[in-house]
Amino acid sequence: MQIIIYDNAQLVAQSAANWVKELINKKTDPVLGLATGSTPISLYKQLVEQHKSNNLSFKNVTTFNLDEYHQIDPVSSQSYRSFMTEHLFKHVDIDVNNTYLPTCAVGENPRTQGLAYEEKIKQQGGVDLQVLGIGANGHIGFNEPTSSLSSRTRIKTLTQQTISDNSRLFKPGEQQPTMAMTMGIGTIMDARYVLLMATGANKANAVKDMIAGGVSAMCPASALQMHENAIILLDKAAASELSDQSYYQWADNENRKLIEHYGYFHNY
Ligand code: PGA
Repeated sequence: MQIIIYDNAQLVAQSAANWVKELINKKTDPVLGLATGSTPISLYKQLVEQHKSNNLSFKNVTTFNLDEYHQIDPVSSQSYRSFMTEHLFKHVDIDVNNTYLPTCAVGENPRTQGLAYEEKIKQQGGVDLQVLGIGANGHIGFNEPTSSLSSRTRIKTLTQQTISDNSRLFKPGEQQPTMAMTMGIGTIMDARYVLLMATGANKANAVKDMIAGGVSAMCPASALQMHENAIILLDKAAASELSDQSYYQWADNENRKLIEHYGYFHNY
């Protein structure tokens, strides 16, 4: 794991945007894995700014989102499709036909839909860079604790904690889904690079379990310890429970020297 600690959430977003920008500029047909939630909103803001002021083009980009609520109407304001439209898609030059979410509409079979999503990712050559947040319970995507570490895209029942964490996004009286389609942990692990962003003190325990705990289905994000190219971007608050912070900072400085000398090693 490459762990980088920044002074604040804004710098985390800037760094994440640089990773995405590098992929888009480097590859002719980049495949980007996307996440929803409050953490990546500032990343999407940065990307929109880069598109407007620096001509960062999404024309050839294909995207796969981590998850989507089960049986939600995609035009509903609570759907993750609407989230992506609002925060990114409608502001950039992406072809919406190249933007995918793991949907399962009323009358569709979640198993078939999950398999079809996996197939689609494969057809596009796999995900180059998967953006991730982390739940306070250590989930990635909607892979809640006890999810198989080799799971594939499927339907999952959300935990009470996740339902209550996400209730802020629903208006009083509005029906909140309790199930979602999500890429599995195995699906996420297949991405060439994973870029996990965590900000705020409420993530500090999950971050500690992910980095310094054992690999366990009780902390799904800990599976990233087994990923060859996992980049973990933290603000100080999210890193506050880590005992080896000074080592991570020192290693990051040394890495910067290597980059100055050899250039980036990223191999998309
Ligand atoms: P958040 O969610 O960015 O809204 O905190 C992250 C997640 O649940 O993966």
